[in-house]
Amino acid sequence: MKRHALAIDGPAGAGKSTVAKMLAERLGYVYIDTGAMYRAATYKALKLRIDLNDPDGFGFLADTDMTFVDSILYLDGENVGQSIRSAAVTTSVSIVASHIQVRNQLVAIQQEIARNADVVMDGRDIGTVVLPDADLKIYMTATVEERARRRHEENLANGRDSDLLKIQKDIERRDRIDSTRIYNPLKQAEDAVYLDTSHLDIKAVADTIYVMFTKITSGDIVKGENHNG
Ligand code: DC
Repeated sequence: MKRHALAIDGPAGAGKSTVAKMLAERLGYVYIDTGAMYRAATYKALKLRIDLNDPDGFGFLADTDMTFVDSILYLDGENVGQSIRSAAVTTSVSIVASHIQVRNQLVAIQQEIARNADVVMDGRDIGTVVLPDADLKIYMTATVEERARRRHEENLANGRDSDLLKIQKDIERRDRIDSTRIYNPLKQAEDAVYLDTSHLDIKAVADTIYVMFTKITSGDIVKGENHNG
């Protein structure tokens, strides 16, 4: 049976995970937050006290279990939904995600999940590397100020400490590392639909993508057609 996939890529704070979650629920698909997997690898590396700059230290990933249950990531059986959002993990994750040894391990897990389930997957390299044959690819972005503001509000809503200026600086730093790294950098796939969400309501963005996606998967329009109008 052919599996369906919706790929959503873009920089931190563009609204990817909110939209991806809404769409997965509406479509009855599995939501896979690939950023959570890079965060979990970082969390475990910090716990093991390995040198994060040394790609050879990440052999432990071969014996690491990462499983999603109801959109929550379990790392070796432990619910790490909260711990992977800590400042320590957020600061270090881009370095960890730049190692090809790490990426190869995690991409293999992501592709295996998509072979066995219909998925909405969000990240940085889903349309370009992980699921090049996805039914629809979205590249979602927003101004850095707006992205920082959204992350700040999300932190406050979840009872976490938050400093808007610090968040913006961290987002800028991560964008720079994520988009200039050698392996699988953050990049719009050639056949992805570009969406700037700076001035858009997130719910409206999800509705727009839903219409595009269901048209494609019901065979109404052909993949690769220009969806921008
Ligand atoms: O989306 P996020 O902020 O939780 O992602 C955390 C980090 O993981 C981000 O700085 C880049 C990296 N990442 C990646 O390199 N590839 C992905 N597919 C997803 C995330």
